[in-house]
Amino acid sequence: MAQITSGIRSILSHPAMYNFTQNFLGVRKARRILTSEYFPNKKGLRILDIGCGTAEILEFLPEDIHYVGFDASMQYIEQARQRFGNRGEFFSELVNSAHLNHLGKFDVVLAFGVLHHLDDPETAMLFDLAVEALDHNGSVITVDPCFCPEQSAIARWLIEHDRGQDVRNENGYCQLASTHFSNITSTLRHDLLRVPYTYLIMNCKNEAEQSATSDASEHQ
Ligand SMILES: C[S@@+](CC[C@H](N)C(=O)[O-])C[C@H]1O[C@@H](n2cnc3c(N)ncnc32)[C@H](O)[C@@H]1O
Repeated sequence: MAQITSGIRSILSHPAMYNFTQNFLGVRKARRILTSEYFPNKKGLRILDIGCGTAEILEFLPEDIHYVGFDASMQYIEQARQRFGNRGEFFSELVNSAHLNHLGKFDVVLAFGVLHHLDDPETAMLFDLAVEALDHNGSVITVDPCFCPEQSAIARWLIEHDRGQDVRNENGYCQLASTHFSNITSTLRHDLLRVPYTYLIMNCKNEAEQSATSDASEHQ
């Protein structure tokens, strides 16, 4: 995972400082918009959040969902358990196939702010796991800082100084997703934070698998 954790950015390893910085920039608004505009509105939605951080996304999700969060940071997971204990299952580990065997299938695999910390092979591994975890009509939703020609100088500067060392442009993220998913919808948003910033939201599905699954059930 390519992430700068030295110097001034080391303070972001502390959950309270991480959340303070995120709130200052307005990431709560980004989470609110993401969950209301990009998540399926389905009772009992099953969400696997890879790189969940302190699981702040739960603030914007209804009580009746099933939520499982994984994060490499034990400190972030401790904070998630303290704040949201009974609202989900939290694991301070890298998610792997063995976990997925007993967790079942998910409607949404979320990776908010994760891909730009991963190099190409690591991203492919995350997508492998996401494909394995998804129910037949489910989707992977990713949100990451993104370079694009029309963004403001402030947005570009902030993104260039992110802890993540693998920020890409829209084409770069979509190319990576296209090795695992046949249907990718990508949206560039410049309005999700309080400050000028560019996020790319991708919604990735596998249409071939979906139609194969529905064909199979039609013929039963
Ligand atoms: C920028 S933070 C985003 C946290 C959270 N999704 C949010 O929106 O606040 C990225 C997180 O991804 C975690 N991470 C990166 N790769 C991971 C992996 N393969 N499995 C679990 N956590 C991972 C890091 O520990 C870090 O906490």
